[in-house]
Amino acid sequence: MKRSGAGTLGVEDVGRQVKLQGWVHRRRDHGGVIFLDLRDRSGVVQVVVRPADAPEAASNLAPARNEWVVEIEGAVAARAPEAVNPKVATGEIEVVAAAGRVLSPSAPLPFNVEGEVDATEETRLRYRYLDLRRPELQRNLVLRHEVTFDVLEYFHQQGFLHVETPILTRSTPEGARDYLVPSRVHKGSFYALPQSPQIFKQICMVAGLERYVQIARCFRDEDLRADRQPEFTQVDVEMSFPTEEDVFALIEGLFVRLFERRGITVERPFPRLTHAAARARYGTDKPDLRFGMAIADLGGGLAASGFRAFASALAEGGVVRGLRVPGAAGASRKEVDAWVELARRHGAAGALTLRRRDGESVFQVKDVLAAPEIEFLVAALGLEEGDLALIAAGPETTTSAALGALRLAAAARYERIPDDAWAFCWITDFPLVEWDEREQRFQAVNHPFTAPHPDDVSRLDSDPATVRSRGYDVVLNGYELGGGSIRIHDREMQQRCFALLGISAAEAQERFGFLLEALEFGAPPHGGIALGLDRIVMLLAGADSLRDVIAFPKTTSAADLMTGAPSGVEGAQLDELGLATTAADD
Ligand code: AMO
Repeated sequence: MKRSGAGTLGVEDVGRQVKLQGWVHRRRDHGGVIFLDLRDRSGVVQVVVRPADAPEAASNLAPARNEWVVEIEGAVAARAPEAVNPKVATGEIEVVAAAGRVLSPSAPLPFNVEGEVDATEETRLRYRYLDLRRPELQRNLVLRHEVTFDVLEYFHQQGFLHVETPILTRSTPEGARDYLVPSRVHKGSFYALPQSPQIFKQICMVAGLERYVQIARCFRDEDLRADRQPEFTQVDVEMSFPTEEDVFALIEGLFVRLFERRGITVERPFPRLTHAAARARYGTDKPDLRFGMAIADLGGGLAASGFRAFASALAEGGVVRGLRVPGAAGASRKEVDAWVELARRHGAAGALTLRRRDGESVFQVKDVLAAPEIEFLVAALGLEEGDLALIAAGPETTTSAALGALRLAAAARYERIPDDAWAFCWITDFPLVEWDEREQRFQAVNHPFTAPHPDDVSRLDSDPATVRSRGYDVVLNGYELGGGSIRIHDREMQQRCFALLGISAAEAQERFGFLLEALEFGAPPHGGIALGLDRIVMLLAGADSLRDVIAFPKTTSAADLMTGAPSGVEGAQLDELGLATTAADD
């Protein structure tokens, strides 16, 4: 008899003989009758084993406990009306066992794999195969599979070729540290695992492939967070002869399809914001546009302010900006203190409040603002009865970051973030480079292969900090889902940009000579993007961490608790590689 899926059975199957193989999800004994909830990937169904009707099955299954693997053969029967469970998909039926046996016993479990999570994250990761039995995680992996499949189908239909690029390769700079792999054959030499397939996909364009896509594994040794893993997967895309508009249309089409297939309507075109506007209005280059609460610039009405904090910020070339929190006029001292602390963590001196209550506007510091200044603030912030404003002053970068963080915290606190909304946007006009104080040199904001904006190229040498790039990001609900650019396809321009980043001609030749050379052999204009597949699935799954959508994720200290990686190696293995270690972590 062929195996049936436990979760697929229903009233239409009543009377059918079925064979089930799966795990004991739950077990109850009622006066000698055994009730087993049998689970497989498709779901759960109740099995009844009556010793009177099936004595051999009853004795075989008597020892079976949670998570034992069993096989059942029997008939699907309708449940008595009082036994119907409307909460379960198979709640109208049960399988009456005629035969049954244990296929594989289970040791007592370190934690429950159904219902409430009752174990630490460490234990769950150590026994990941048990945690993965949870229906939530199984659903996430199914979703991930289906999204991957849809992505490949979409790009296939658009004429893209899936090309695999090497894992053992040379460093591709994306701003993180490399994972290195020592070479046995070439002692003292190392491969780097790719931070992205960036250079290979550009070389695919020089090779005339025109449209490349790859579900690409990337590796970055960087500080980890809920939305960052040391190895993760990109939907990596490159095309020849595109404009920004071509890339935007292609990717919007992809998201519309991916979301539509999951019952979510996405409006296109996605709104666009320049990098400068996103930072000014939302304090970040990955704004959450599910709600308003935009940041207002208040400098214009405060230039002559008698309040020192405002006047000196403006005199020193900084900004005064603020944010309206609707309905928060009654915020407690404790709440405001927490916001001030948050602003400080983002480098600002703090945040000041302006409350509008009982028809009066009260600024936190008494008697420092003239009445017309307060009126200006109320108007500029759009403050209404019952609202509170948070105001910060100081250098643009820290003030903007602090207000961005306050906007999110206040919106969460006052429940202004709809959780069923999907707000995509494009961020454009990134600066090409930014000054790195610590290293005393310019760093690429995107990566060194991003083309400068043609209108700004004339300032590349004289005023590089003001040059915009042809880079763009796609953002959803405050998460950066992807980033890309139109690339440099001209050797001379690529060398100029390397030089701007403090990469000497000799170093450029040593590290990227193969790319520079390739650019001399008829390199087509090209550009593309990479999307974070893990993040897309995380948002679609409604999960808070990438760990919930990756089968075997790592901890925040980049460890795999199941296999114990990273681990020490035998001395002989080190000798063979010509390596010696000087320090070990205990
Ligand atoms: P970028 O570095 O912006 O661009 O990466 C593209 C997207 O990959 C995802 N991502 C991550 N996801 C999980 N964990 C991480 N550690 C992690 N790092 C990045 C993000 C991000 O938007 N080569 C360029 C793309 C290009 O120019 O075409 C690149 O890698 O969702």
